[in-house]
Amino acid sequence: MLQAVKGTRDLLPGTCRKFRHVEQTASQISSLYGFDEIETPILEPAALFLRSLGDTSDIVSKEMYRFTDAGGDDLVLRPEGTAGVARALISEGLAQDLPLKLFYRGPMFRRERPQKGRYRQFYQCGVELLGVDSPAADLEVIACGYHMLQELGLSQNLTLRLNSIGDADSRAQFREALKAYFQAHRDELSQESQDRLERNPLRILDSKDPRDRKLLEQAPRLADSLTPAALEFFKQVQDGLKALKIPVVIDPLLVRGLDYYCHTVFEFTTENLGAQNAVLAGGRYDGLVSDLGGPRVPGVGWAFGTDRLVLLLDELQRDWKSSASFALIPIGERAEQELPSLAQDLRRAGLRVDLSFSGNVGKRMKRADKVGALAAVIFGDNELNADRFQIKALKTGTQSEVPRAQIITELQRLITSP
Ligand code: HAM
Repeated sequence: MLQAVKGTRDLLPGTCRKFRHVEQTASQISSLYGFDEIETPILEPAALFLRSLGDTSDIVSKEMYRFTDAGGDDLVLRPEGTAGVARALISEGLAQDLPLKLFYRGPMFRRERPQKGRYRQFYQCGVELLGVDSPAADLEVIACGYHMLQELGLSQNLTLRLNSIGDADSRAQFREALKAYFQAHRDELSQESQDRLERNPLRILDSKDPRDRKLLEQAPRLADSLTPAALEFFKQVQDGLKALKIPVVIDPLLVRGLDYYCHTVFEFTTENLGAQNAVLAGGRYDGLVSDLGGPRVPGVGWAFGTDRLVLLLDELQRDWKSSASFALIPIGERAEQELPSLAQDLRRAGLRVDLSFSGNVGKRMKRADKVGALAAVIFGDNELNADRFQIKALKTGTQSEVPRAQIITELQRLITSP
């Protein structure tokens, strides 16, 4: 039997509804902050990610779906959205209209080991604010992310972790200090971190291996390498968050796995999803657009994993409200004939109507229950002759008789007070 590809899944209607709810909330809240939607292609040239994410990042070194197509082009199924937005800014000439505030959503692909909350095809929503180099922009995107998580009812269950990885000078200095320290303790490092030591020592800070964690306790601190300008920038972000009453934990070990970051990096994490604890993450990337061959346009943004937010909402057993629907239940031939025009009237009035197309009254009532209908409109010859239809509220079981002309008003009333 053919199965979905490992690490991919079918989002069945119930799950899809939850995904759309989360995406719509993100789109709605980000629009309050002035973000407009952009959609970039899923297929991008491989060079885009090689130049932006860094050769030593996990994504580029082992997780990209990269292939040569029949025309010989070196392509990648995008592993993330920021690089594509930066590419679009350059190729569409958007640098004329700065600052730009862009929101996006869609599937991303990483060939990681699948587990709960980690998929090979997953979905992100993200925002990117381009063209502003002051901490006010960092504040704006973090405030937007926090507002959105609040709107989803999740802010109590998440911790905002924040760090500064400084400017290029700060990082170069820190990289050397870190290298010297770990070289002296090389044999005590995990195998993976020994490899990282050569390629990208900063990534050792990300390690979850207990041997590395122990060594990290005494390791040089990134904060000690920050230049005065970088420290001032970081302070302004923190002061801004304080003024907005957004709780934050400074995490000196947070470095993030992508090369394009500088200054502010942050993650909203949860205790409820096991190892996959980051639900929304981002930071500042002032060098990305110019590294890709464009003008010097600073940027800051974040993306969240829609799959993870949906899992988290499920884990916390949040209710998923779907809009009310109604069942129409005809009894006999005349009623069957009347059914399409009654359904049409109700739908044109904006009411959601489910039809079961066949079966007796009992069977159709069962289906009405199964789809969670708020009420059933039941009618046969008697009702048609008297022009009065039966409306049964399914939650309470109360039945009333309503003239046909008042059915819409009565169903609308049931939505507000069932
Ligand atoms: P990222 O940390 O690689 O950042 O991904 C952001 C979020 O996507 C993660 O926190 C997680 O919720 C979700 N995610 C990542 N990989 C998977 C996976 N395999 N399965 C399920 N969910 C996953 C970025 O992608 C940056 N582009 C964020 C950004 C935007 N930075 C600046 N602007």
